Amino acid sequence: TKKNELVTRPPVVTVMGHVDHGKTTLLDKIRKTRIAEQEVGGITQSIGAYQVEYAGKKITFIDTPGHELFTEMRAKGVQVTDIVVLVVAADDGVMPQTIEAYNHAKAANVPVIVAINKIDKPNANVEATKQQLVTKLNLIPEDWGGDTIVVPISARTGQGIDQLLEMILLLAEIKEIKCYPKGPARAAIIESKVDRALGPVANAIVKDGILNVGDYIVAGPVYCKVRALIDDKGRRIKSAEPSQPVMIVGFEELPDIRYTIYAVESLELAQEIAQEVKEKLEKEKPSKRKI
Ligand code: GTP
Ligand code: NA
Ligand code: MG
Repeated sequence: TKKNELVTRPPVVTVMGHVDHGKTTLLDKIRKTRIAEQEVGGITQSIGAYQVEYAGKKITFIDTPGHELFTEMRAKGVQVTDIVVLVVAADDGVMPQTIEAYNHAKAANVPVIVAINKIDKPNANVEATKQQLVTKLNLIPEDWGGDTIVVPISARTGQGIDQLLEMILLLAEIKEIKCYPKGPARAAIIESKVDRALGPVANAIVKDGILNVGDYIVAGPVYCKVRALIDDKGRRIKSAEPSQPVMIVGFEELPDIRYTIYAVESLELAQEIAQEVKEKLEKEKPSKRKI
């Protein structure tokens, strides 16, 4: 059909968990094993998120620190994350930040998959860790009759990671993660920074529609014409589709992570919307002269 109907899009996954439980190692391992073998010699670009393919299906991983992003996103009510992978080290068990991370996910109503990590260690205790999931988080593993997907892994050796990716895709299918694939883009900013060569850039994940080079976009009080798009492999691309992470080049000012990026019809309209937001912000600004 020609109508802009909802279709499924790849899941966007955030990895969270206690300090040193292996979040970065896991993200690195997935990236290396799933991207390197597909694109030999490909230089990866750090744009805050990357996409891999498993069994012919795409998964987007956010690799910025989970906690901050999550609270920011929750604060503005926009959820960039579809699934949280909660990493729990099998030699350490459920720790304070595990509980905190889980509470973030729960509050945002984002489904959680537990990855019990470091199972290669001699002192790893998967059963004891599962027991703690029950007692400390009230999460009952599937193999214990509950409905929480728990996957034992080693981010170091790679053991169990294929299963984890399978479970992510399975949960994504059950949750029916969807988007409007056509029309003007809407994108969530995951980080913004000033690049020495490119100026202010936004690393974003497209939520709906197609984002194109040349589009007019607005992000709160900031607007621009998209000058370039760079993907997670460092390639210049012409357009980005739903769930695709992309670096957006063309801003004159740094866009705030709190705002959603919208593509609009014209530069005039983008400017108009940005101006309105700017004026509203000015009014809200508390007077500094107040004594
Ligand atoms: P923070 O970002 O500081 O919260 O830590 P993190 O959760 O990103 O943990 P990181 O990936 O930095 O791993 C912490 C330590 O655990 C590192 O020394 C890793 O090499 C080690 N590690 C991570 N995963 C595994 C694993 O599966 N097995 C073993 N043996 N060590 C692991
Ligand atoms: Na660490
Ligand atoms: Mg880390």
